[in-house]
Amino acid sequence: MLSKRALNLKPSPTLSLVAKAKELQAKGFDVISLTVGEPDWNTFASPSNAGIAAIQNNITKYTPANGTIELRKKIAEKAKAEIGIEYAPTQVTVGSGAKFIIFAALQMICNPGDEVIIHSPYWVSYPTMVELADGVPRIILCEEKEGYKLTPEKLEQAINHKTKAFLFCSPSNPTGLMYTKEELQAFADIFRRHPQVIIISDDIYNSLVFDPKNRVNNVAPHILHVAPDLKERVIMINGGSKAYSMTGWRIGWALGPQKVITAMADYQSQSTGSASSISQHAVLAALTDCSKDIEAVNVKLAQRKNLALQEFKRIPQFVISEPQGAFYLWVNVKSLFGKKFENTYIENDKMVGNILLEKFYVATVPGIECGNQGYLRLSFATTEEKMKLAVDRMVQFVSQLN
Ligand SMILES: Cc1ncc(COP(=O)(O)O)c(C=O)c1O
Repeated sequence: MLSKRALNLKPSPTLSLVAKAKELQAKGFDVISLTVGEPDWNTFASPSNAGIAAIQNNITKYTPANGTIELRKKIAEKAKAEIGIEYAPTQVTVGSGAKFIIFAALQMICNPGDEVIIHSPYWVSYPTMVELADGVPRIILCEEKEGYKLTPEKLEQAINHKTKAFLFCSPSNPTGLMYTKEELQAFADIFRRHPQVIIISDDIYNSLVFDPKNRVNNVAPHILHVAPDLKERVIMINGGSKAYSMTGWRIGWALGPQKVITAMADYQSQSTGSASSISQHAVLAALTDCSKDIEAVNVKLAQRKNLALQEFKRIPQFVISEPQGAFYLWVNVKSLFGKKFENTYIENDKMVGNILLEKFYVATVPGIECGNQGYLRLSFATTEEKMKLAVDRMVQFVSQLN
């Protein structure tokens, strides 16, 4: 009954982990979930009220496939202020979440066999999205000693005549680490030598940068800050989900070369139709009114990050690189390999994740799902109490190893 595509399809591992944690919760276990990539605070007042007003005022009909003109103008204005690049509203397309927007971009640029360079650790969905576009994910492993970042040498080595695109995210999901302007400049020099490569810059966390000193125009350093001449090859992705805590509203967008954006809008017109009119109205309010809310969120996230790092000092077996943005900790748990829990020797991060979930009721994402063996990704977009309790349970787990 099923197509080859369906048979090859892997469900999102984070969503299945969340489902497993929920199953245990439904059975009455007190599971602390550090898996999910969404803020635990409410959508801000202004977009919530705008959503309600949209319903009350019957802003409840189809919109253009690429989004309302008001929202696209606002997104272009924001890009001008933050990235310093001018875009016409026709060079913006709004869709049902950044995830679908990345998916649509890949569908519109990849031919069968085209390679898309992704460096690990990566966001769990990137490789599958490339495969669904008949492309080939060209994964480059990045290690701890490189700060989990791609070096210019490795990037250049990976580029060949099949390379169609480079897809990356800074600050990164899963590490929270960020490329500097100098590092992006080095990438830009390489891209200038390889004019066929399209750059997909997933900027979904770029407003969540803890230290203002690390920001440029209030966001993470961007390749177009240092190389505006690459504008015609960069697809910028962003959305309402993370910074505005609007994951359930499902709004994402892309800005980029006219041809690509028009193709993406046509693709949306034949698939989702358009994003929800109500959500678009709400996100317009978020982009207009919420800069102070985001500032407050960054302060809160920095505090939570510091608290989590402090708490994890209780487990010296875990090695953590301090994140600069987003809301994840990337924890090296390799020192647990070869140790025995009950009657089982721990061999990999999935086993660590399974024991933590099934015996200690803490849900995490094993690093292998992000391409690197030996890690856990933990979200600190959770309350201080829950984070402390999760660390208590992990301390218990580690103390039971021998
Ligand atoms: C790196 C990255 N990109 C894109 C997305 C997609 O966000 P959404 O589809 O909720 O807009 C996520 C969400 O987890 C993410 O972590």
